[in-house]
Amino acid sequence: MKNQKLSDFNKNERPVFHLTPEVGWMNDPNGFSIYGDECHLFYQCYPEATRWGPTRWGHVKSSDFIRWERLPDAIVPDQEYDIGGCFSGTATEIVQDNAKAVHMLMYTGCRPDHDDPEGRGIQTQCIAFGDGIEYGKHDANPVITEAQLPEGSDPHEFRDPKLWQEADGTFRAIVANHDPEKGTRLLLFRSEDGRGWKYSKVFAEETGAPERMWECPDFFPLGDRHVILVSVMNEVGSLCITGRYDRETETFIEETRQTLDQGLDFYAGQTLAAPDGRRILTGWMQNPQTAENREADLPVNGQMSLPRELELMGSRIIQRPVRELESYRTDEVIHRNVRLTGAGERKLEGVSGRTADIEISVRPDGDETYGMFRMRFAGDSERSTEFRYEPESSEVMLGSAKTKVRNRNGRLDVRLILDRLSAEIFINDGEQVMSAVIYTDRHAEDITFYVKGAAVMDIAKYRIKENK
Ligand code: FRU
Repeated sequence: MKNQKLSDFNKNERPVFHLTPEVGWMNDPNGFSIYGDECHLFYQCYPEATRWGPTRWGHVKSSDFIRWERLPDAIVPDQEYDIGGCFSGTATEIVQDNAKAVHMLMYTGCRPDHDDPEGRGIQTQCIAFGDGIEYGKHDANPVITEAQLPEGSDPHEFRDPKLWQEADGTFRAIVANHDPEKGTRLLLFRSEDGRGWKYSKVFAEETGAPERMWECPDFFPLGDRHVILVSVMNEVGSLCITGRYDRETETFIEETRQTLDQGLDFYAGQTLAAPDGRRILTGWMQNPQTAENREADLPVNGQMSLPRELELMGSRIIQRPVRELESYRTDEVIHRNVRLTGAGERKLEGVSGRTADIEISVRPDGDETYGMFRMRFAGDSERSTEFRYEPESSEVMLGSAKTKVRNRNGRLDVRLILDRLSAEIFINDGEQVMSAVIYTDRHAEDITFYVKGAAVMDIAKYRIKENK
């Protein structure tokens, strides 16, 4: 680790409202759940370096999804079955025989396999129980072993259990797996008591593309549908499969697919059910392929996305920043009916900064549409990050990432959430989202606009403060 002092990083550079590890590496969110009346979030982390190493579960909690209180690490790799890492998994509050609520974790234990030519470990599923602060591993771990896998399964690619308890008190888990001949799949396991598990069946699969593997599955109801959420290895974004769930036969019938984030950095999304009925998503705001190669000379590597509220509209999943962020807004700046023409980069009074929540609405000036709208942010004289919209092709671009948006005749609504190390862009009220990590100098605070042709823009800009 190159050594920038942690105290300097904390003062000037640490994201203000995005969760980062105290020091070192962070990847997937794990065990995102409500326990008692607080939101708990565990995460894959390795404090020894700013690259991946045998992961443990870091632990934080929050009462508003924005401010996180650090807690002791929940589980660390210290057993023969998980010495290669306590990999991803879930947490859920369960009620035991004595009617006491317990926080149950299910995770993947990875143990080295010296015979594997690719250097991978054997993966098994393990459990731990806790009270919201301290967690203890079950004596009889692992509770699901490679011996229970159906034929063809690769025991080195068997991980990230999604655990839940049914209304009758029994348990289910779906676990990601790979069959090198057939492709990727999610396997369903059942248990009466959460400790003894039996293989049930293939719950979902994708055949014909054996190079792809699904990781980090989630499964949850949304509106009148159910959703399977997976992350596809070597792709960015988290794939959402919506469909119907027949609880009687425990069968999922797929209907549509969509990628949850079309930007450069979002992976391993995981959701929770909030007590008020909202389905909240967070993800690792990083691209697994590039996460370790970044140049930045920082003592931490990795952050979580801002939690998002999910809603199903028709068959489309809409994402919006958690509404709790709004109570951290301050220093409102509003400009209405700003006419932008192709006369260079335009700055607006009071519109700059590096921790901001900005709402922008662009529309043609009169009947004629414009060629392109461009916004540059986190800018200084040398660099900036760029977002563009081209009405004719209905495309938006964030750096090198590109996606189509709904054609609204040149009208575009954007909400840009900017923190010291990231940008998250919610387009057309959450129909699309694009996220990206930014490493430019943390004091690069310029925000500028440019239009090819002419357009009219409304903007509302807020600074996000450290405390409510
Ligand atoms: C996804 C992943 C998971 C695994 C974890 C290990 O980023 O590869 O499949 O459990 O990271 O840290």
